[in-house]
Amino acid sequence: MMFHISPSLLACNYDRMDEEIARMEAAGADWMHFDVMDGVFVPNTTVMNEAVVAKMKPHMKSVADVHLMITDPLDHIAAYAKAGADLISFHLESDSDPAETIRAIHDHGMKASIALKPGTPAQDVYPFLDDLDMVLVMTVEPGFGGQKFMSDMMPKVREIRTEAMHRGLKDLILQVDGGISTENISLPAAHGADSFVSGSSLFGAEDWDAYVSSMRTIAGDSYLAAFAE
Ligand code: DX5
Ligand code: ZN
Repeated sequence: MMFHISPSLLACNYDRMDEEIARMEAAGADWMHFDVMDGVFVPNTTVMNEAVVAKMKPHMKSVADVHLMITDPLDHIAAYAKAGADLISFHLESDSDPAETIRAIHDHGMKASIALKPGTPAQDVYPFLDDLDMVLVMTVEPGFGGQKFMSDMMPKVREIRTEAMHRGLKDLILQVDGGISTENISLPAAHGADSFVSGSSLFGAEDWDAYVSSMRTIAGDSYLAAFAE
C-alpha cells in the first residue's frame, strides 16, 4: 500500500521552484502538486500553468500531480499532456463535460481524477467512479493555501472509499487537499485517504525530511488500523 505525499507548489519559493522540488523529492515526496487557477473558477490566479509544468517536469523524478481549478479543463488537456503532466484533477463543478474530460485525459496517456469542492456531495462523482484513477476531496474551499482543514469533509472521504470498495475499485486513489499537516493527517487516512497534499504546513516545516516521513508514517498507521483486511 503506497501513501502519496504531494507538496503543493503554491507554497514554494517560486524563484527556486526547481531546487525546492528537488529538495522535496530528496525528503521523500513522491508526487508534486501543481495548483492551476484561472481567477474565474476560483477568485485567485497562480503562476502555475502548462509552461511551468513543462519547465519543471524534465528535472522531476516525482509524479506531476496537476490540480486544475479552471472553468474549462477539457480545453487544456492536450497542453498539459504535452507539458508532461502525469495526472490531472479537474473539478466536477467546472463547465467541462466530466465523461468527455476523463476520456481526453486517458487518450493523452495521463491518469484522470475528479476534484470535489466541499459543497459537492460524494454521490455526484459516483457516475464516473469506474473510469477514474483518483478522486480529490477538497478539505478547504479551493483558491488559496494556508486555510484551516475542514474535518467535516471526513464522512465524504469515507463514503467514497466505501463505494469504491463495494465496486472492487481497489486501485482508486483518494486524495485530500487543503490544510493537511502532521497534526490532522491521521483523520483523512482513517477515513480512507491515501494521497495527501500539503502546502503551508510542509513547506513551513523546519526539517522537510522528518516532516514527510512523519506524514507518511502517521497516515499509514491510521489507514491500516481502520482498513486492516
Ligand atoms: C487550494 C489548493 C491546495 C492548497 C494546499 O485551492 O488546491 O492545493 O494549495 O495548501 P495548504 O496545505 O496550505 O492548504
Ligand atoms: Zn490543490
